[in-house]
Amino acid sequence: MSSYVPQQPPPPDLADALAAGAARLEGWATTFLWFPEISSTNDVAIRAADAGGEEGLVVAADMQHAGRGRVGRRWESPAGAGLYVSCLLRPDAETTRWLTVAVGLGAAEAVERTTGLPPTLKWPNDLLFDGRKIGGVLAEAGVSSDGRTFVVVGLGINLTSHHLPHELQAVATSIEHETGRAVDRAVLLVELLAAVRRRYRELRDGRRAEVLAAWRARASSIVGRAVEWEGEDGMRAGVVEAIDDDASLRIRCVDGEVRVIAGEVRWR
Ligand code: BTN
Repeated sequence: MSSYVPQQPPPPDLADALAAGAARLEGWATTFLWFPEISSTNDVAIRAADAGGEEGLVVAADMQHAGRGRVGRRWESPAGAGLYVSCLLRPDAETTRWLTVAVGLGAAEAVERTTGLPPTLKWPNDLLFDGRKIGGVLAEAGVSSDGRTFVVVGLGINLTSHHLPHELQAVATSIEHETGRAVDRAVLLVELLAAVRRRYRELRDGRRAEVLAAWRARASSIVGRAVEWEGEDGMRAGVVEAIDDDASLRIRCVDGEVRVIAGEVRWR
């Protein structure tokens, strides 16, 4: 069983903000599935994709019982503490290659627009304030039963920090903690969808260079850093020399130069 409390009409703050922002969303969130409690918004969006759901369908929840992050991690998702939202996309193959870059960038831009604080991006798309994580993106691709491909893009943004387990407090933070103010989740939701849609549209329109340049400006703090990552033959370590034009990392190791095109690197 994957949903705990059945789908309900969105609460008034979200419904009003989505209605007011409809022109900017250009059809996204016309189908908006809201759950007070759910396993994972990505699971529901994947099921909707499988059932033939169309691009721009959005699933959001107040809490997730089985929120997940990248590389098999759990995403802490108690009620009211975060924005948990997934968006169904049906990109072509070329757009899919660059999707996580565009989505991470859009999310960072939305957070900046809503809070005034500019998050940086930790390669490839973790959102950070002052080196601590406030949000992340989990993209999951598949093929619907009708044969069409899809990507579900899940976004988690920490609104408050109270829920973060002790061991995460050194590495994670929240909008409320950083700004000293509560954030209006409805405003943030609309900004998030509008900014991601805009960057996604640029990719589809062949304006990848613009997306990459803006992403690179937010992600560049990794250049010059000592990092480590799980390579094919075990842990590797090196110093990042550059972010290449294909968004991969060029890393100088003791035995030469290595390119890392996906996955996760840790700062040492
Ligand atoms: C990460 O940084 O590891 C990615 C975190 C993504 C979390 C979001 S919350 C909404 C969506 N549903 C999930 O189960 N995960 C994503």
